[in-house]
Amino acid sequence: MQEIKVHDKLFVPWLTEQTITDRVKDIAADINNAYAGKKPLFIGILNGAFMFASDLLKHITIEAEISFIKLASYKGMKSSGQVVTAIGLDVDITDRHVIIVEDIIDTGKTLHQFLPQLHNQRPASLKTAVLLHKPEATIHPVDIDYCCFSIPNKFVVGYGLDYNGLGRNLPAIYQLKD
Ligand code: XMP
Ligand code: MG
Repeated sequence: MQEIKVHDKLFVPWLTEQTITDRVKDIAADINNAYAGKKPLFIGILNGAFMFASDLLKHITIEAEISFIKLASYKGMKSSGQVVTAIGLDVDITDRHVIIVEDIIDTGKTLHQFLPQLHNQRPASLKTAVLLHKPEATIHPVDIDYCCFSIPNKFVVGYGLDYNGLGRNLPAIYQLKD
């Protein structure tokens, strides 16, 4: 894989499409085993999780539902701190087995704010499936139940993640060049 330019910044290859696919399949298999007979409701968080949610759900072989919400807290390369619900939830999660599907836990602020709101609606269970986790950056604690990759505290793009709107369509993940 080649380094790439997104807007004004250079990015170097970090996780290949094959590496991501293999890991997403493993996570899907774990979920299939854990949720057999439970008909879970997956909730993908737009925009960043669209590709992960799509690929993950292709390998979910048990009965399941998927819905999406849109939360936003990022501006450029820094979290703005404010988590805004741009598109809300259109399903009743009471007594449902809910699995949140998120692209990345960075500071943890987004899910730290959002998960209690879901808890208030009394789901039967509430778990998280996360593509990337930056442990060194996480200051708001979030329980991650299914994590694909722990990564260093560097900005990444691709596979759903963007830098100012660009890069989401890349099938692999790239890290900001030093
Ligand atoms: P927090 O800090 O709330 O961040 O855990 C979660 C949201 O911030 C975005 N984010 C990133 N987007 N490259 C990106 O393209 C990154 O390295 C990055 N870190 C955080 C992302 O949308 C995530 O849902
Ligand atoms: Mg996001």
